[in-house]
Amino acid sequence: MINFGKVLLRKSQITLEDMRQFMSLPIDSNNDYIPIYSYDENIKIVTTYDLEQSTKHIPIKDQVIHSIAHIEYNAMKSYIDTLIRFINQVPVQFQKEFKEDLGQIAFEEFCHFELVNQLCKYGSQPVHNNLQKRMMLTMNSLLGRLAVLSIVNEGRGMDTGLNLIQKLEGDKNYEKVIKKIVQEESNHVKIGLKWFELLCSDQSPQENFLKLMNDYKISRNWKINIQKRKQVGFSDEWIKCLQNWN
Ligand SMILES: [Fe+2]
Ligand SMILES: [Fe+2]
Repeated sequence: MINFGKVLLRKSQITLEDMRQFMSLPIDSNNDYIPIYSYDENIKIVTTYDLEQSTKHIPIKDQVIHSIAHIEYNAMKSYIDTLIRFINQVPVQFQKEFKEDLGQIAFEEFCHFELVNQLCKYGSQPVHNNLQKRMMLTMNSLLGRLAVLSIVNEGRGMDTGLNLIQKLEGDKNYEKVIKKIVQEESNHVKIGLKWFELLCSDQSPQENFLKLMNDYKISRNWKINIQKRKQVGFSDEWIKCLQNWN
């Protein structure tokens, strides 16, 4: 059987039908070497510094929208990568649920990408590859991947998401799209947390998380939104852990 997930990761133009087909596939237990996803050919990768320099002339709201398109694109590919890379490491009785959860998130990221791509042409501005680097950092650890992808990256988006609205210079069209996306991201954090805790089994999730952050040298440079974190299932112990993480 063709591993559709692997094909999707390489494909440049993914369609809604592709995603639907991906979602309906049975779990593929073949564990060949999976290449970390690559970017489309028309995407220009630059350093964070060069990105700032080369987009100076573009209105802030258009820079923000393009960076969100990049985030959604990465998120979609990251969840597909996580699913096909790690499904065999999930206890058999949970594999079906793992596939449904991560497949659903990948699908939603795809829809977010489509929404934002209508407001900007993805690839019309250069991008950095910091998100891809984090995926490469965690390519050998499912717990590391879930921590970085859902609790850190998506969690940061949830903590700071509404601040983005202020950067949209009052553009109602942009605001509508961003508000919808921010709302849906909370559920992704919730699902990532669920799997991280479940796969920690009898180890302390908080201790594990702090150890991973220390190993990967990932620090926190934003404010945790306690209310939002609690809403998606972070316990008091978790809040303390996130606040101690720096
Ligand atoms: Fe998203
Ligand atoms: Fe997300």
